Amino acid sequence: MRRSATQRQPDRNGRLRIIGRMSSATPAARSLVIRLADPTQDAEAVAAIYAPAVADSVASFETVAPDADEMAARMRRILTWTPWLVAEASEGEAVGYAYASRHVERAGYRWAVNLSVYVAPARQGQGVGRRLYDTLLPILRAQGLLHAYAGITPPNPGSIALHEAIGMRRFATYAQVGHKLGSWWDVAWFHLQLVDRLPDPPPEPVALPALLADPEACARIPALRVPPRGS
Ligand SMILES: CC(C)(COP(=O)(O)OP(=O)(O)OC[C@H]1O[C@@H](n2cnc3c(N)ncnc32)[C@H](O)[C@@H]1OP(=O)(O)O)[C@@H](O)C(=O)NCCC(=O)NCCS
Repeated sequence: MRRSATQRQPDRNGRLRIIGRMSSATPAARSLVIRLADPTQDAEAVAAIYAPAVADSVASFETVAPDADEMAARMRRILTWTPWLVAEASEGEAVGYAYASRHVERAGYRWAVNLSVYVAPARQGQGVGRRLYDTLLPILRAQGLLHAYAGITPPNPGSIALHEAIGMRRFATYAQVGHKLGSWWDVAWFHLQLVDRLPDPPPEPVALPALLADPEACARIPALRVPPRGS
């Protein structure tokens, strides 16, 4: 059973007490290092984190899990424009990842991204997803990106809770749009405007590699200060 933000359990005297928030406040989540992915080093672990979502769930509508080579290629492609982050536990193991990708390829959509996030099953509900997004969103804002979207296949209470926790709101449903595991599934779309007011005209967004070349921007965002392993 998945956990909510807090749990109530009887103590030794039968009184109810609140036990630790199963959220970004957990010590396990606080000790994570959130850093940019290194396709050479991380592809295998990231592919392993993603595989169960492909095999056993409708969190992803892919039906064949990508191998490490394919995952490395995806990471390289994403990193030419937007961040791909990895959450690394204290023992150095990758336990989750999140990235932003272009919402739609057409030029007029270049201020809009889709968010994706996957956490290893054993680490879900411990604040990993929240830590990843809390790092990802400031980078997107620093790039001058203005809209974030996420498509979620209900019911996925963990994903809906995470996306609502970062301020996203459901605005549309694609009814019965995907077929997997023998059924048709809706996709609920969530949105977050990344700035209070949309600038008009909007400044050009900055591609991630250009942001990384700006020492002041990197100094402001801890995840960008941590060099990827193997570099
Ligand atoms: C969805 C997923 C990424 C969430 O990441 P996570 O690390 O488990 O989530 P967190 O522990 O950071 O929780 C984030 C918030 O959601 C809440 N939450 C998490 N799981 C929940 C659940 N099952 N029910 C209700 N709330 C939940 C937390 O309390 C927390 O809220 P808070 O920050 O206000 O305290 C993760 O569960 C996962 O990888 N699931 C399988 C793949 C998937 O569905 N990916 C998303 C595709 S759209």
